[in-house]
Amino acid sequence: MNVETLIGSPRSVRLKGVVRENSRTRTLLFEEAMETCSITPGQFLMVWVPGIDEVPMSISHWDPPILGFTVAPIGSSTRALCAMEEGDWIGVRGPFGKPFQISQSDALVVGGGVGAAPLRPLVYSLVEQNTDVTLLLAGKTAGDLVFVEEFEKRAGDRLSLEIATDDGSAGFQGLADMATEMLCDRCKPEIIYTCGPELMMYKLVKIAQNRGIEIQASLERFMKCGCGICGTCAMDSDGSMVCLEGPVFTGEKLRELTEFGRYHRESTGVKKEY
Ligand SMILES: Cc1cc2nc3c(=O)[nH]c(=O)nc-3n(C[C@H](O)[C@H](O)[C@H](O)COP(=O)(O)OP(=O)(O)OC[C@H]3O[C@@H](n4cnc5c(N)ncnc54)[C@H](O)[C@@H]3O)c2cc1C
Ligand code: FES
Repeated sequence: MNVETLIGSPRSVRLKGVVRENSRTRTLLFEEAMETCSITPGQFLMVWVPGIDEVPMSISHWDPPILGFTVAPIGSSTRALCAMEEGDWIGVRGPFGKPFQISQSDALVVGGGVGAAPLRPLVYSLVEQNTDVTLLLAGKTAGDLVFVEEFEKRAGDRLSLEIATDDGSAGFQGLADMATEMLCDRCKPEIIYTCGPELMMYKLVKIAQNRGIEIQASLERFMKCGCGICGTCAMDSDGSMVCLEGPVFTGEKLRELTEFGRYHRESTGVKKEY
């Protein structure tokens, strides 16, 4: 494989549109050449923010040739992305990473905050192949939720939407794991797909294990290359690289990764406990 293929053919793209998902979060849309449009839910792009940095972003919008990612402002790169407007230029390379494995079993999809981003194309893929899907969008408050109006409109025979907020400002009042337990009792899913804060996913992996339900979760780790060269995203205990072997891992694999739900590493490699 040549280097350009490995590093994901860096290209400049101009924003075609910016969608306001809530007061802080934006979806940035751009056009891709059809040959780079083969993307599977759960994969991510490395996004170059001119003059600042390059950061990983999950693909949240996939309607070839228009692609998009949904970003919440956390630090300098993500704040700059959220401030962008139609016509601005960014760089992208990828797609990278192992996607969600699409199953035909009845599914519970749980997104925490902006973690719902990679789950959005997943939900559409599941519904398209006639899987029954319960989608739980969870957040600290109603203002942290994304895609609510969109999925309210799409809800129907195959898709039901549930909301949970920590403060009860919308939907079920309580943490995402409490809502998940309740929905497992009610909907009896055979598989759970999730992305969100790691401690939430850690609890969901335990719930799935206790109930004998399959689970797939999308992880975040500090990434520099995004394609298996630098080793920055390697996880204890076996050095699994999140950019190559993940970001989506099965519950079985996550139980082997001793750092999952306990700590992650900052850009310098220093451990930071959750
Ligand atoms: C596979 C993957 C998919 C992601 N998808 C999304 C998404 O769809 N939407 C979204 O809003 N965020 C997503 N993130 C998180 C996003 O990449 C970080 O929030 C972003 O890099 C922060 O950069 P910053 O300069 O704004 O903040 P900083 O102040 O630099 O950092 C804030 C936090 O983000 C983490 N971070 C910083 N740089 C990176 C990096 N290069 N790789 C991973 N983490 C980093 C830091 O450890 C720190 O905890 C994803 C992360 C990964 C690994
Ligand atoms: S980010 Fe470089 S190996 Fe994963």
